[in-house]
Amino acid sequence: MKDEAVKSIRSSTGDKNYGAKDIQWVLTVPAIWTPAAKQFMREAAYKAGIASPDNKDQLIIALEPEGAAIFCRERKMEDFADQTGDACIYDVVYRPGLRYLMMDIGGGTLDVTAHDILADGTITEIYQVTGGAYGGIYVDENFVSLLENLFGIPTVKEFRLKYPADWLRMMNDFEMKKRGRRAFDDKATRIVLPRKFIEMIDSIKDLTKRLKKSCNLHDVEILNNEYLCLGPKTMKKLFDPVVNGIVSHMKGLFDRPALKNVSCLFMVGGFAESVILQEAIKTALIPTCNVLTPNYAGIAVVQGATMFGQKPNIIKSRIMATTYGFAVHRKFNPEIHDPSKKHIAEYGALCKDIFDVIVKEGDSVKVGERKRSIRHPLHSDGTSVSYAFYTSTDPNVKYITDSTVDHL
Ligand SMILES: Nc1ncnc2c1ncn2[C@@H]1O[C@H](COP(=O)(O)OP(=O)(O)OP(=O)(O)O)[C@@H](O)[C@H]1O
Ligand SMILES: [Mg+2]
Repeated sequence: MKDEAVKSIRSSTGDKNYGAKDIQWVLTVPAIWTPAAKQFMREAAYKAGIASPDNKDQLIIALEPEGAAIFCRERKMEDFADQTGDACIYDVVYRPGLRYLMMDIGGGTLDVTAHDILADGTITEIYQVTGGAYGGIYVDENFVSLLENLFGIPTVKEFRLKYPADWLRMMNDFEMKKRGRRAFDDKATRIVLPRKFIEMIDSIKDLTKRLKKSCNLHDVEILNNEYLCLGPKTMKKLFDPVVNGIVSHMKGLFDRPALKNVSCLFMVGGFAESVILQEAIKTALIPTCNVLTPNYAGIAVVQGATMFGQKPNIIKSRIMATTYGFAVHRKFNPEIHDPSKKHIAEYGALCKDIFDVIVKEGDSVKVGERKRSIRHPLHSDGTSVSYAFYTSTDPNVKYITDSTVDHL
């Protein structure tokens, strides 16, 4: 990938001496990933020869919803579905004081962040990232389950194994049809069944009867011995669990007190282009908020990430999704400390294993902010202090031995 990027820049600029070292790399990751997963991406990039530990600043790890936010703020109103006018969104909607949710929904990850626009146009995060395993691939999975329901698990399995190229062709056809709007417009969707598949299902007796009986579906049929014809009800059913999961997650967010003043939702990512999802979200959330989907929502993250690389200071602060701290001893207080943690030291009774919180889940932290803390050795002749860092999924964690704690 690195070589391809360099080749492509060389050929479009005509600069033959242009190399990987001249590039400011921006790699995007879902905001909802753990810090460890984000760090893994950085190390993987170093391995690929993209930047290096000695030249860390050459690589920016950008959060996908933030890239998308920067993409959206540079658009005109007419660049959003159902909107008109060539005014820049920055002059109409994306004004200081606007609190909005940025929802990135792609193949398998829903990633939602909440932002506030400050007076100087910079962005501050107002709520920790949320999301989950939702996206377009789950519609594909539901389609496979439908095939298994219709024709039997063994038939589908045998076809996948014996004719992988035909299987891919059929899934690609489904992918294309899934992106269309026929089901939304109450029209039937036709998926081309490969010849080999037709031959295999031909041997299933009373197929039509079986289709209706086994699935209790009245709008599925095989047409002209070539197409699997899915009526709008059946096709929408493939979307239902995924779309309902996304809608209920988003509705849940609007019920949280911290997000009370959010008045706008931006939808980006490939699956945000689905008219079925767009409609379900609008039905559920309007008039609570204004829903805006940029055209070409699927490329918002990538384009926005390159813009972010040029203006990385646009994000002022983020909300911590994890609690961090280190282990300390404190003066033992029998009213609050666990007796099993009592430790008699030179200075008297101490409580060991205390998780001293540096930043807590939900805290707002400025980009580049530093925390200072002074520690003393446990013994008067001690010359060093060791720091052991921990994370916890419980913001009210007490001891480093709690079950919610991990050593970093
Ligand atoms: N018009 C459309 N209608 C429905 N689904 C679509 C449409 N366009 C793209 N998709 C779906 O969007 C998904 C890809 O989106 P995207 O490229 O944003 O995913 P990704 O960033 O690779 O995945 P993720 O963010 O989950 O890691 C695919 O599942 C694809 O089928
Ligand atoms: Mg994505």
